[in-house]
Amino acid sequence: MSLILIKNIKTLLQARDISYAAGQKMRDIGALDDAFLLIEGEKIADFGAMADLPQALAKLNLTEKALTEIDATGRVVSPCFADSHTHIVYAGSRENEFVDKIKGLSYEEIAKRGGGILNSAKRLQAATEDELYQAALGRVKEMVGYGIGAIEIKSGYGLTVADELKMLRVVKRLKQNTPVTIKSTLLAAHALPESYRNRREDFISLIINEMIPQAVAEGLADYCDVFCDKGFFTVEETAQILEAGARYGLKPKIHANELDFSGGIQVGVAHKAISVDHLECTGDEEIEVLMESHTMPTLLPSTAFFLRIPYPPARQMIDSGLPVAVATDYNPGSSPSGNMLFVLSLACLYLKMLPEEALNAATINGARALELESSLGSISKGKIANIFITNPISSYTFIPYSFGQGGQLIDTVILRGQI
Ligand code: NIG
Ligand code: FE
Repeated sequence: MSLILIKNIKTLLQARDISYAAGQKMRDIGALDDAFLLIEGEKIADFGAMADLPQALAKLNLTEKALTEIDATGRVVSPCFADSHTHIVYAGSRENEFVDKIKGLSYEEIAKRGGGILNSAKRLQAATEDELYQAALGRVKEMVGYGIGAIEIKSGYGLTVADELKMLRVVKRLKQNTPVTIKSTLLAAHALPESYRNRREDFISLIINEMIPQAVAEGLADYCDVFCDKGFFTVEETAQILEAGARYGLKPKIHANELDFSGGIQVGVAHKAISVDHLECTGDEEIEVLMESHTMPTLLPSTAFFLRIPYPPARQMIDSGLPVAVATDYNPGSSPSGNMLFVLSLACLYLKMLPEEALNAATINGARALELESSLGSISKGKIANIFITNPISSYTFIPYSFGQGGQLIDTVILRGQI
């Protein structure tokens, strides 16, 4: 079994056993200065102050000789980020729409002209499973470079039974072939295909009677999702799909309140969603509903940035006592980037979150939004050793402060105990 000792860590983040952080508690990032971390096989074996390292080694019956040592002088060590909302299986890109947007068209106007999700669906339908796998694998590797160790990946650019399953099979291969912890979500209700324009109910039936049962029969989905928003799917349609998902054991993680006060948060909470995501259009009523739930509000600030829409009221949510998670929403249309470090900068600058709050949102709360909080998201004995080590930096606040840096900030990533 491999043994790794990381010593002289300037600051070890999330050095504690927690399952999520909410409200005022998000201001604490569990920072331990001058620390060590011991990794045995896939797991965290011990951690603590450098002064206690000799006892820790004695307790584990180890000598330093038996260990691969990493000297982390001047460096910050953190649990990897958990990116709980992405769409990284896609074909091609949409920079033509980027130009339309610069010229003044809105996201909905672009979608109405056959751009947007339907444009990506056309390209995805034409791509082979292998082409999609190679492209998505490249994105996973890129994301690991940003310190991400767990990823949720959605379908939703297939929009036919065969193509939705094709997307989910790509996700299954990524699960099997990478050390990243991956969860898959069936997002069949992402956009209404052109051929169903005048028969919406038929598409909903297709999702309920074919896509959900087949995805579950093949073991391809962990969650189900609906884009519950103006111009996409209604609250009633969302409820129908979530109920069908529940019958097959799929819990919801849904797109809600991005473009309007859509009722998405309410319908998600009513169906015990693990998370409701986006939430740009959130008011007092929605916050009250979230307060009565175990649903993780998940914010995607790089999407609000790229779409130039108002940011969600993160401050009001946290000050009301809620937890929030942040994720990249990496996709070709509204957030063509998996740079979680940039997401942290946006969370601080535009969601007005403190660096500690942003780091909690991207680590333990992201893990919670994937039901992975007991094995990932903080540094605790027995949790999986998914950690990153920065280059020497002045403090952990430098991480969101030095915006746009990307991978240069991160020196080493360890996934499941493997460097
Ligand atoms: O999360 N909001 C819906 N879905 C994606 C965008 C997908 C696309 O435009 O391709 C999102 O922003
Ligand atoms: Fe999304």
